[in-house]
Formats: sequence, structure tokens, C-alpha cells
Amino acid sequence: MRVAILTISTSFINGQRTEDASGNLLAELIQRPPLSAQVAARTAVQDDKERIAAILKLWCDSGAADVILTTGGTGFAQDDCAPEAARAVFEKEAPGIAEALRAETAAKTPLAWLSRAAAGIRGKTIIINLPGSPKAVQECYSVLEKLLPHAVAILTGEIHQH
Ligand code: MTE
Repeated sequence: MRVAILTISTSFINGQRTEDASGNLLAELIQRPPLSAQVAARTAVQDDKERIAAILKLWCDSGAADVILTTGGTGFAQDDCAPEAARAVFEKEAPGIAEALRAETAAKTPLAWLSRAAAGIRGKTIIINLPGSPKAVQECYSVLEKLLPHAVAILTGEIHQH
């Protein structure tokens, strides 16, 4: 499985934050079993809907990744626009994934409900928004690792019937 990681953080891009802790954590988590995935691409971008959408579109349309995980920009701040950028490139929504991330991790923190994260499909790539904090990334990833192998196998045509 090839996973691309997009950190959405204006403060990281303009140097107010020097470490991309959530991007680093995601890169580490996806390479571990059970996913044992490759980091297919990785970059960071400011909270800018057009720039985010352009990167997502490029990674999907070039066939660079089976899954794109974004981190950050899903909340209620004025410039948070990760879900809007993702929806601009989705061909199909996959609302169950975003619902599962909120519902399953809300047992750990009710603030999970404040993430507006979206999930969907463009071509043969699944795009999933995650919140920005390393804690949220860790919690959400524990849900995702159970869903992604089957989701990717179906989308890529590796599994045709159950
Ligand atoms: N989800 C989980 N599982 N754990 C968390 O700690 N933090 C929440 C929420 N989702 C959190 C979470 C908080 S505090 C916010 S403000 C929103 O995600 C949006 O975060 P973002 O703007 O960094 O994407």
C-alpha cells in the first residue's frame, strides 16, 4: 500500500512551528504492521483551499498513492479548510470513514466531534482528513488501520467479491 501524507499548517510553513510532529508520526505509523505501507509522497502546505486541492488532485491523478492522509485544518478556526479542499477533489464521498474516526475516538475525547474531517475517493485514491494534533492522529490512526486494507483492496480491484 502506498500512502501520501499532507500536513496542512500555515504555522509550520511560515516557520512559527519548526517540527511537523503529526506528519512525522503518520509516516512512522503507516510503515508499521499491520499496514506496512510505503510513504509514497509527503509535503506540507498552508491552510489554503486552492493549494491543498491542487496537491490532492496531482497525487490522485498521477496515480502516486492508494491513500492520502492529510493532517490539520479540520476545525473551526477561520482559515481551517481541509474538508472543503478535499470535497473539491472528491468524485465520491466516503462519509463512513470520517464518521468512524469521530465516533470511535469520541470515547477518548468528546472534542473529537469538533473535527469537520471528510473522506472520499478520486480515481483509485482514497483521501482522508485527520485532525492536526499528534494525539488525534494517533487515536484516529488506530481506527483507520482496521479499515484501510479492505478499502484499498476493493478500490484497486484486488478484491472483486466477498
Ligand atoms: N480527535 C481525536 N481523536 N482526538 C483529539 O484530541 N482533537 C479535536 C478534534 N478531533 C481531537 C480530535 C480538536 S481539539 C479539534 S479543534 C479538532 O479536532 C480540529 O483539529 P484541527 O483543526 O487541528 O484539524
